[in-house]
Amino acid sequence: MSKIKTVIWKMQPHTEMKHIILKKYLDAWLPIMANTNKKILYIDGFAGPGEYKNGEIGSPIIAINAIKNHKANITSEIRMFFFEADKDRCDFLDQKISKMSPLPSNIKIKIEHARFGEKLKDIFDSLDGQKQKIAPAFVFVDPFGFPLSFKLVKRIMENKGCEVLITFMYEEINRFLKKPELSKNFDKIFGTNQWRAVLSIKDPGKRKSMLHEVYKNQLEKNANIEFVRSFEMKNKSNKTDYFLFFGTNNIVGLKKMKEAMWKVDGYGNFQFSDATHNPLQPMLFEKEPRYHLLKKIILEKFRGKIVTIRDLEYFILTKTYFRETHYKTQILGVMEKANPPKIIRKCDKCAKSSKCKIIRTRYPEDCCQIKFL
Ligand SMILES: C[S@@+](CC[C@H](N)C(=O)[O-])C[C@H]1O[C@@H](n2cnc3c(N)ncnc32)[C@H](O)[C@@H]1O
Repeated sequence: MSKIKTVIWKMQPHTEMKHIILKKYLDAWLPIMANTNKKILYIDGFAGPGEYKNGEIGSPIIAINAIKNHKANITSEIRMFFFEADKDRCDFLDQKISKMSPLPSNIKIKIEHARFGEKLKDIFDSLDGQKQKIAPAFVFVDPFGFPLSFKLVKRIMENKGCEVLITFMYEEINRFLKKPELSKNFDKIFGTNQWRAVLSIKDPGKRKSMLHEVYKNQLEKNANIEFVRSFEMKNKSNKTDYFLFFGTNNIVGLKKMKEAMWKVDGYGNFQFSDATHNPLQPMLFEKEPRYHLLKKIILEKFRGKIVTIRDLEYFILTKTYFRETHYKTQILGVMEKANPPKIIRKCDKCAKSSKCKIIRTRYPEDCCQIKFL
């Protein structure tokens, strides 16, 4: 299915962005997971050769470097699995990793020439036979074409502490959707036949958002993933190439992934386009988040109501593009200082506690309630 036949190939800007998101997330994920687990897994199911045409590193090397160069002292055992179906790419990766030795003794690496879906099924079947579960894992599913069968995504997420980052090749999927001989295959990929409803939709934008919603909904409702976020990658023609779907059951994981995604799109659209990317401009430009938009979203939900800081922050984190760092000073602070004020602090503890008065603008989550006027 893939047009790329060579062992290594030229890296596109959107791949670079995907790698920034991966690296930023791993930098945050590693110490959190390593502090709470003796053993963690990093699984790259579609590993690639580990290098691109101009010498840029691929996802397996990014992950190994993230551990090796982490400023925190990571001592728990980290088992890394790299699966690659193409023999030459797998050998290339093997050689590249062998040149990285010596690696810290807590990193155990396995590189396998195998098809990830089949391999994963064998692993789960064998563990089920022994009534065992896999250790907490970060699983990166980054194919050229169609992703993993949904059943396997579900099986990964049934294990405690597991997270997935999935490249959902929208363009490729959308292109082949009409082929009747592939229908059954798409049922497996989506884990439902609900995708078939888009076949009658002509409008490309509607079609895209419907397919995106079917997959997102499946991750949330069928695989029971508590937090799902996606990031849209567009190609040189400014058309959607793929969505990166991230799924976790850990709110800290969600926070960290949103932080990583905001690094790539400082505007908060959660998208990147090769068409508008200027390589001569600094990549990680700091754009101003659209606070007015967040304020509008908050007011639509809470105007006239009283809400705790904890609930407000949970809403912002889980239901909007915005981050937990985007609302206190920039929105609540401004609304409270307005004349007349647009919010009132309702807080029994604050009224009594001098500590809270000193740190007034911080809106501590364990005590403050806000009334939106
Ligand atoms: C998009 S590339 C991976 C790029 C890599 N993750 C990175 O970011 O540097 C997809 C890779 O998956 C490999 N592949 C294709 N089908 C596979 C399968 N069923 N199992 C494992 N690898 C597969 C391809 O040969 C290709 O090298």
